[in-house]
This record gives sequence, structure tokens and C-alpha cells, in this order.
Amino acid sequence: MLEEDKKVFEFDDFLEGISKYGKSKISIQDKKALPFVKWVGGKRSILEEVKKYLPCEFKEYYEPFIGGGAMFFNLGNSKSYISDINLELITAYLIIKKDVKKLIDRLKEHKTFHCEDYFYKTRLNQFPNDPVEVASRFIYINKTCYNGLYRVNKKGEFNSPFGKYTNPKILDEENLLLCSKYLKNTIIRYGNFQDINPKKNDLVYFDPPYHQTYSGYSANIFDEAKQIELRIFCDQLTKQGVFFMLSNSDTSFIREQYSKYNINSIVAPRFINCKSNGRKGGQEVLITNYDTKRSNSK
Ligand SMILES: C[S@@+](CC[C@H](N)C(=O)[O-])C[C@H]1O[C@@H](n2cnc3c(N)ncnc32)[C@H](O)[C@@H]1O
Repeated sequence: MLEEDKKVFEFDDFLEGISKYGKSKISIQDKKALPFVKWVGGKRSILEEVKKYLPCEFKEYYEPFIGGGAMFFNLGNSKSYISDINLELITAYLIIKKDVKKLIDRLKEHKTFHCEDYFYKTRLNQFPNDPVEVASRFIYINKTCYNGLYRVNKKGEFNSPFGKYTNPKILDEENLLLCSKYLKNTIIRYGNFQDINPKKNDLVYFDPPYHQTYSGYSANIFDEAKQIELRIFCDQLTKQGVFFMLSNSDTSFIREQYSKYNINSIVAPRFINCKSNGRKGGQEVLITNYDTKRSNSK
């Protein structure tokens, strides 16, 4: 039988597939890791659209505003560099890479004790010393807080309220193990978006806090001055022959900043508290410093 005749199933549906089509007619494909936290501005809902604008070929992949990492996990590039300015988030990535079993054990405990009172007690314990504790607390709170909305005050303390879900998925063991496997080839760093050093023909995907939208990810404000720093950094990378792709709000300010690049409109259904000042409702842009034919599907 030709390989193309086979039905391809992800792991969850494999057994069902066998009973429906017979063993010889199906093949299994590796299940992809998914973001292990809910993240404001997460790209899952528009991933397929954004992927159409990837360059046909590139060497190494950089994502310096990694957040939940929807694009990074989906791409499956062999060598990647991810970073973010949120220390707890980056600790979680590092622990998933290096000590996932301990993390799973600790999340099992959080799951056992979970209730409103326990949530607030855990939330009070800001910045524990043990990295496994930091990572497990971060994931536990992310899964159980209101709307999965990671929000910090000016001191950088997490302050989202309790989420009142009947059955929050505090522990997704299978996905954490997949993430851990996938992160083995990844360099993970805590830092500012400029602290990366990509080379010619590498790709950098920038997904910063958007202009005129939610910015409670960390105590550092991402204002217009920061947006300008980011654009200057994009200019530098372009001179070095690095590809970049950048998501942002569709505002006149952003269009002006990137007027010499390719600006593509993307319709996104999920802006939080969008103040209309200069914003075309519900739209965002994807900017590239290379030509795209929208035919890529990596
Ligand atoms: C829009 S979110 C990224 C969403 C991500 N692409 C996803 O799929 O979940 C923006 C991220 O930028 C990070 N960030 C904010 N300021 C930063 C800075 N100066 N340098 C690096 N990361 C920063 C935030 O912590 C947040 O995780």
C-alpha cells in the first residue's frame, strides 16, 4: 500500500482508528506539544494564518517574546532560542526541560489541595526559592486563576483572582512530557528582546505586547518608546541579513514605524480591552522584512 493511502492519526485517536480502518491502513504521527500555560495574546487561534507568512527557508529560530509559545511548539524547528522577560515563565520552561518529573509530582499535590483558600495561600507565597516550586506555583495559578489572565502589579507580584472553574486542568502530564522532549534542543533564556544574537538567514518571530492593548505580563511597561526600540532592533537585524516576522496591533503608529517593510493585515478575534484610539477594530498586522507569497504551510 502507498504511504499516501494511509490515514494518519495522532496518538489519542490511534486505537479508534485501528477499529475503524484496520491496522495496516493507519500510521501514527508524533503528537505535537501545546502551550503549557494560557497566555494573553497567545497565537493559537490565528496560527495557521500567521504560518502562511513564514519564509520558505530559514536556519535557526528565535522567539524573544515567547509567552505561551504557540508558534514555537507548533513549528517543531530543530534548533531554537526562546526568551522572555517574565522570570517565572522562563523558570517554568527551564524546569519542564530539565526536571519535568519533579514538576509533575508537585502539580499532583496542587491538584489534590486545590480550593479557593489554597489558591490564595499559594498566590501569597510570591517568589519561592526553589525553582520547581516557582514553576509549579506559576502553572497551578495560571490554570486556576480568573480567565487564565496572568497579571502582575508594579512590584511584579501576581494578583489575578480565583477562577471558580469546576474542573481546571491543573496537570496535563502527557503534554508536559511532550513539551519537555521538544525543549531538549532549545536554548532558553531570561532577558530582554534585544539580548539575542541571531545570524544571517535565521528567523526571529517577534510577538511583543501589542501597541494600545494589554500589558500586565510583567512589571515592565511596553510603551511607545519600547515599540520604537523594537523597530530599531528590527532595522539592525535586517542589515545583518536576519529574517524577521512581527505581530502587532493595526494602528497608524505601528504602520508608520514599519512603513518600509511588508505589512499584512490579519483578522484576530481576541483583543482584550481594546481602546479604539487609532486602532482598526479587531485587526492586527504581521510585518516581514522579506517577500511572502502566502503559500507556505510549514
Ligand atoms: C503577546 S505576549 C507573547 C504571546 C506568545 N507569542 C504566545 O503565543 O503565547 C508578549 C510577551 O512578551 C513578554 N515581554 C514583555 N516585555 C518584554 C521585553 N522587554 N523583552 C522580552 N519579553 C518581553 C511578556 O512577558 C509576554 O510573555
